[in-house]
Amino acid sequence: MDNNNNIRVRVGIIGAGPSGLAQLRAFKAAEAQGMEIPEIVCFEKQEDWGGLWNYTWRTGVGKYGEPVHGSMYKYLWSNGPKECLEFADYSFDEHFGRPISSYPPRPVLFDYIQGRVKRSNVRDFIRFNTAARWVDYNEETRKFTLIVDDLANNRTYSEEFDYLIVASGHFSTPNMPYFKGIENFPGVVLHAHDFRGADRFKGKNILLVGSSYSAEDIGVQSYKHGAKSVTLSYRSNPIGMDWPDGMKEVPLLTHFDGSTVHFSDGTQEDFDAVVMCTGYQHKFPFLPDELRLKTKNCLYPDNLYKGIVFNDLPQLIYLGMQDQYYTFNMFDAQAWYARDIIMDKVNLPSKDERRADIDHWLDRAAALKTHDDEIDFQTDYVRELISLTDYPSFDLDAVAELFKQWLRDKDENILCYRDKTYKSVMTGTLAEQHHTAWMDEMDDSFERFMREPELTH
Ligand SMILES: Cc1cc2nc3c(=O)[nH]c(=O)nc-3n(C[C@H](O)[C@H](O)[C@H](O)COP(=O)(O)OP(=O)(O)OC[C@H]3O[C@@H](n4cnc5c(N)ncnc54)[C@H](O)[C@@H]3O)c2cc1C
Ligand SMILES: NC(=O)c1ccc[n+]([C@@H]2O[C@H](COP(=O)([O-])OP(=O)(O)OC[C@H]3O[C@@H](n4cnc5c(N)ncnc54)[C@H](OP(=O)(O)O)[C@@H]3O)[C@@H](O)[C@H]2O)c1
Repeated sequence: MDNNNNIRVRVGIIGAGPSGLAQLRAFKAAEAQGMEIPEIVCFEKQEDWGGLWNYTWRTGVGKYGEPVHGSMYKYLWSNGPKECLEFADYSFDEHFGRPISSYPPRPVLFDYIQGRVKRSNVRDFIRFNTAARWVDYNEETRKFTLIVDDLANNRTYSEEFDYLIVASGHFSTPNMPYFKGIENFPGVVLHAHDFRGADRFKGKNILLVGSSYSAEDIGVQSYKHGAKSVTLSYRSNPIGMDWPDGMKEVPLLTHFDGSTVHFSDGTQEDFDAVVMCTGYQHKFPFLPDELRLKTKNCLYPDNLYKGIVFNDLPQLIYLGMQDQYYTFNMFDAQAWYARDIIMDKVNLPSKDERRADIDHWLDRAAALKTHDDEIDFQTDYVRELISLTDYPSFDLDAVAELFKQWLRDKDENILCYRDKTYKSVMTGTLAEQHHTAWMDEMDDSFERFMREPELTH
């Protein structure tokens, strides 16, 4: 494809995590159908692809002084059934050649993500160790100038693009609240972003601030790996599980007094460590004010038509900026739609019409009351995107049911829900029971996970 001057359209992608890789895969799928695709360059600041799934032991800054992107930790297992995130064009059966359990650990899902992109040969599109530094948009030429740092060679350069796709993730920059007296707390204080494994909390009394997925999972992990006590402190609502002995939820802390923490219900307790599971900020230090998405973590960020197109400038596309029940297959649906916009297969409506469409979704989002409502909302969002593209369609109502079952399974037993198995919506394959109960499984390696049951002892 080309523009009027017979120069190929250039597309810049920032980030080679699951969203950026979905975009590369989408273009490759069009190419495989014989279409001419634009010229694509993907800039990734890490030395490998996979985004958050590319585990790092580092915290703080990386070897080139960049803020570390990774927020995942040792012993991280999928917190939702893998059947809910399965790619419609690359099943677990196709990748692993045999059924596996429904809640794989991080290295196994990382392997799955990589399988698809290795086969479609997209690595050549990616410039690794290259951080997006700044973006300018020229109204006259209608082009973006992207300034990047080639970190390994300590070199700064710029390139021009017709479309810019921001796929830099939003679970990396901590939201770190202040509580009076915290500066004199003698133990360790860290954010979930810097948590790298629960073993360090063995025998310790730990306090987790927050009541969402990080608090829940880091709490359960710490309990599993031998913390003496785990206390979760909530601001709005407790998670409300039937916690095992040694775990409990309390209202929000008010202040610290040495190692003693005071809570709003008047109780107090001593702790050895505090983990702020207080969420993340959408942070785009490479974007000027007028191009920057400004949102909190929610199911439908404002100003994004169909959840991806920046309404003030439709050549700017954001992927994966929603709060996420759906992940990998939602990123695919977004990437396929973005591809079709760029390849002129979709005619975007006027700015006002796009605004009306955004408002329609925002109104609906504002009325959501329960987690089940939220699941239905994101299901409908993904359904609409898929209906607009040739991404293979699948039974989204069945996926929504799996999500709701997952919530019920967690409610029933937060320590054992990862032992449940579900049926693939894509292939009908029933997941295998993992050879070891999750609470007894202390090894999250790929090799151990894939071992046949009779070889596990
Ligand atoms: C602790 C944790 C656990 C999770 N567990 C699950 C799970 O079990 N199941 C699930 O489905 N989802 C899980 N998620 C959700 C996760 O957000 C998605 O699975 C997925 O990683 C999002 O993909 P992404 O590509 O949008 O963002 P990311 O994975 O964050 O990737 C963004 C990429 O952009 C790069 N980048 C950022 N800034 C720049 C820059 N300036 N220049 C160049 N490159 C840049 C980063 O290095 C990174 O590679 C989890 C998230 C967290 C934080
Ligand atoms: N695979 C896994 O096992 C796993 C593990 C961890 C995380 N994750 C993923 O990571 C992503 C992020 O989850 P998250 O839990 O880190 O973030 P999140 O879902 O955005 O939740 C943020 C939490 O922080 C609380 N909070 C924010 N500011 C606060 C303050 N000043 N004081 C007290 N509490 C405050 C919020 O409380 P309010 O309700 O009051 O706003 C909320 O409970 C999710 O996609 C999740 O699936 C997955």
